[in-house]
Amino acid sequence: MRPVASRMASMSGEGALSVFARAKELERQGRSIIHLELGEPDFHPATPVLDAAKNALDDGKDRYCPVQGVPALREEIAIYLNRTRGLKVSADNVVIAPGCKIALFFALMALLEPGDEVLYPDPGFPGYASITLGLGGVPVFFELAERNRLQPDPDEVAAKITPRTKILITNSPGNPTGTVYTDAVQRRLAELAVKHDLLVLSDEIYARIIYGRNYLSMLKYPGMEERALIIDGFSKSFAMTGWRLGYTVAPAHIVPALNMLTVNSYTCVAEFTQYAAVEALRDTSGATPRMVNEFAKRREQFVRDLNRVPGFRCVPPEGAFYAWVNIAGTGMTAEQVSHIMLEDAGVAAIAGAAFGPAGKDFVRFSFASSTATLQEAVERIMKISAAWQGTLAGR
Ligand SMILES: Cc1ncc(COP(=O)(O)O)c(C=O)c1O
Repeated sequence: MRPVASRMASMSGEGALSVFARAKELERQGRSIIHLELGEPDFHPATPVLDAAKNALDDGKDRYCPVQGVPALREEIAIYLNRTRGLKVSADNVVIAPGCKIALFFALMALLEPGDEVLYPDPGFPGYASITLGLGGVPVFFELAERNRLQPDPDEVAAKITPRTKILITNSPGNPTGTVYTDAVQRRLAELAVKHDLLVLSDEIYARIIYGRNYLSMLKYPGMEERALIIDGFSKSFAMTGWRLGYTVAPAHIVPALNMLTVNSYTCVAEFTQYAAVEALRDTSGATPRMVNEFAKRREQFVRDLNRVPGFRCVPPEGAFYAWVNIAGTGMTAEQVSHIMLEDAGVAAIAGAAFGPAGKDFVRFSFASSTATLQEAVERIMKISAAWQGTLAGR
C-alpha cells in the first residue's frame, strides 16, 4: 500500500475530540457522563434564525452561489462588526467560509511560505500549531503564563521575532484560558507587527462572549487595516456549531487568494445557511446577550465551586466559556486528574497539554452546561478527590 503524504505526520488531532470519543464509549457501556470537554454552547439558534433557514429553502436558495459569500450576508457582517466592535469594514473584504477552522486554514495557506514562522499563544487552540506545521511553516509559541495573568508578554513576543516571522496569531477572548487581552498588550502587539512587517491573524470567535467589559478588536489599532485578518463565525456567539459558518475579514490584496482557495475546494458555503446567518447577526430576539448572561451566572457558580475542590485553583475567565484550572496542588499530573475524573466520576474534561506545553498543569472544563449539571459535576469530583488527597497526605 502506498503511504499517505508525509505532511500528515506533522499535523495533530484535538484533545477534546479524543476525550469525547472515550466519554461516548463509556456512555455506550451504560455510564452516566457529564460532558464538559467540548467547546459547544448548549443552546440552539433562536427561532427567527431557524425560520429564516426554512424560508430560504422554501424560496429555492439551495443552489451554487457566489464564491465569496452572498452579498446580503457580507453586507450584514460589515454592519454587525460596526455595531458590536466599532469597526469600519467593507463587504468586499469579507469572505464567507464553512467554519472558522477552515477560514484559519485558508488564511495560513494563502499567506505562508515553507519555513515561515508563525507566532501563536501557548496554551492555545490546537489548530494554530497543527495547521502551520501541515503547511510547512514553523510554529513558535509565546506563553500565556499565570505570572502574567495569562496575558501575552509583548517582550517575549518581541524576543521571538526573527527575519522568518510572517504571522502573529492572537486569540482574545482565548481558548482555553478565557483571557481577554488588555488594551496595552494589544497595542504593543500591533506596534510589533507594524515594526517587523508581520501579518496579524486575530481569531475573534469568542468576541461576543465576554464578561463585563467592551470588546477591543485587533483591527482597531494603528497600521492594522493593511495587515490584520479577523477570523470570526457563528459557532460560539450564535450557538450554530453544526451549521459550519465562519468568515474572514481580510485586507483587499489577500481576498483574491482566499477566493481562489474556495474555488478549488468547497466552491461556496450553503446558500440557505447564509441567509439564516443574516438573521442571526440582526439578533432581533436578543438571543446572544441572553446566552452570555446565562454563561456569566454559570461562570460565577462553577469557578467558585471548582475552587473548593482540594488542589484546584481557578481564576474567573474574562471571556469564552472555559474554566482553566491549575491542578498542580493535587500532586498528580493533569492527565491523571482528568483520567480519574472521567473513569471514576464520569466527568469529561481535557488535560491542558492538549493546548500546548504551557498547559501541562491545567485542566480545561467547558461551562456550556446548565447550572444544575455543573453543580453535579463538582459534587462528583469532590467525591473522588480523595484519590489525590491521598497522594497529598502521602507526600
Ligand atoms: C479559538 C478557536 N478558533 C476557532 C475555532 C473553530 O471554530 P468553528 O466551529 O467555527 O470551526 C474554535 C472552536 O473551538 C476555537 O476555540
